[in-house]
Amino acid sequence: MLKFPVLIVNMKNYLEASGEKGVAMAKAAERVAKEFGVNIVVAPPTPILYSVVSSVSIPVYAQHVDIVKAGSTTGFISPEYVKSFGVCGSLINHSEHQLPVKRVKQTITILKDLGMATIVCAVDPRKTKVFAKMEPDAVAVEPPELIGSGIAVSKARPEVITDSVSAVKSVGSKSRLICGAGIVSGEDVRRALELGAEGVLVASGIVKAFDPEEKIREMAREIKRFL
Ligand code: G3P
Repeated sequence: MLKFPVLIVNMKNYLEASGEKGVAMAKAAERVAKEFGVNIVVAPPTPILYSVVSSVSIPVYAQHVDIVKAGSTTGFISPEYVKSFGVCGSLINHSEHQLPVKRVKQTITILKDLGMATIVCAVDPRKTKVFAKMEPDAVAVEPPELIGSGIAVSKARPEVITDSVSAVKSVGSKSRLICGAGIVSGEDVRRALELGAEGVLVASGIVKAFDPEEKIREMAREIKRFL
């Protein structure tokens, strides 16, 4: 269901992706995905999930979901609820929204039972290994200190990627390894894929770019080389 190599655009709660602007950004991602024939996933802010799902045909993921049922669960993000209108996966345990390890496992199980894709974020190769054993579709390794820095993990900490690839293999997991943090250019993306990552998770490099569509295009061009 989640295809690789993949470019995932995490819009976080950036005001540049507020309301209609987030929908426009998702439409830009969709245009580029079609233009290059590459896999692009968008993870919009929770309040615009429905608008985005209704506006694009590329996969739309939640940035987080809670372990709650649909129904009387005021204020929580129910996986079943967001799935009902077309959200097809979720990030889990983003470094800005970390969960106890046990809850990561429970969330994976719930999403798998619903037929939704699972991407678990890990802060380092050690945590990558822990989460890879839980067999999510992908583990996304992101050194927290590089997030939002404009200094790419693939340039500044290449060993984080290679060690994480090995960590996934060492436990015989089928999970795929992707990476993120500080990725701002096509070159950063290419290096990440050359180091063995099967995709990238990007936020500020796209959302805060002068021309987000052009930035998505620059990155998608590199993803295409690895198809
Ligand atoms: O989820 C992606 C993210 O945490 C990386 O953020 O702004 O460094 O691309 P950024």
